[in-house]
Amino acid sequence: MLGQRLITLEGGEGAGKSSALQAVRDWFDARGLPLWCSREPGGTELGEELRQLILRPRNEAVTALSELFMVFAARAQHLQQEVLPRLQAGTWVVLDRFSDASYAYQGGGRGIASDRIAELERWVQGDLRPGLVLWLDVPIAIGLARAAQRSEAADRIGSESEDFMRRVQAVYAERCRQHASHHRIDAAQPMAAVRADLLRQLARHVATVCP
Ligand SMILES: Nc1ncnc2c1ncn2[C@@H]1O[C@H](COP(=O)(O)OP(=O)(O)O)[C@@H](O)[C@H]1O
Ligand SMILES: [Mg+2]
Repeated sequence: MLGQRLITLEGGEGAGKSSALQAVRDWFDARGLPLWCSREPGGTELGEELRQLILRPRNEAVTALSELFMVFAARAQHLQQEVLPRLQAGTWVVLDRFSDASYAYQGGGRGIASDRIAELERWVQGDLRPGLVLWLDVPIAIGLARAAQRSEAADRIGSESEDFMRRVQAVYAERCRQHASHHRIDAAQPMAAVRADLLRQLARHVATVCP
């Protein structure tokens, strides 16, 4: 199954996804396993331009559907151009956000029905699903405080209401209950404990794929 080597990191702003990505990178490097890391939306020239269009604050209200289609447009480009060729070559791929974020943000946050998102998911991804999804779960206030320590200003989606963020969290939580591939990590813990939990899940998963 092609998706087995696809690992995705999910969670809100300041949950620790970028920090987690570095830990995952080091883990693969130490074992000499080929790894490619990227992010969504983004990862290609077109995708990064779409990311800016999606995230740039603007006066005009962006409709939920436009946002959803932009995210999946970036994803289609990313998959065809970068992700699929690598998975086909046996390279592990780790993504900072993927389709679960569409269910969480455009579904939970914006209110698009999940079966509509599932239609796009099937269209763009076929039967490709990540073999491992790690959701970094952090209370919204802690995530915001961590993100605030960074220099960048909040983007259009990151500056949504706390209610919006709660709906996002609820979808991530529900998907973790529904899918055996999805695991919740308590990201409110100190960095070292988060990393240990994360690497434990990673090692277990990699061992099932290449015993
Ligand atoms: N478990 C943690 N405890 C305390 N601070 C953390 C933890 N994980 C990440 N941070 C810090 O919080 C900030 C946001 O982390 P980051 O990995 O960039 O989050 P994300 O990519 O999910 O937005 C960074 O300054 C990072 O060093
Ligand atoms: Mg990040």
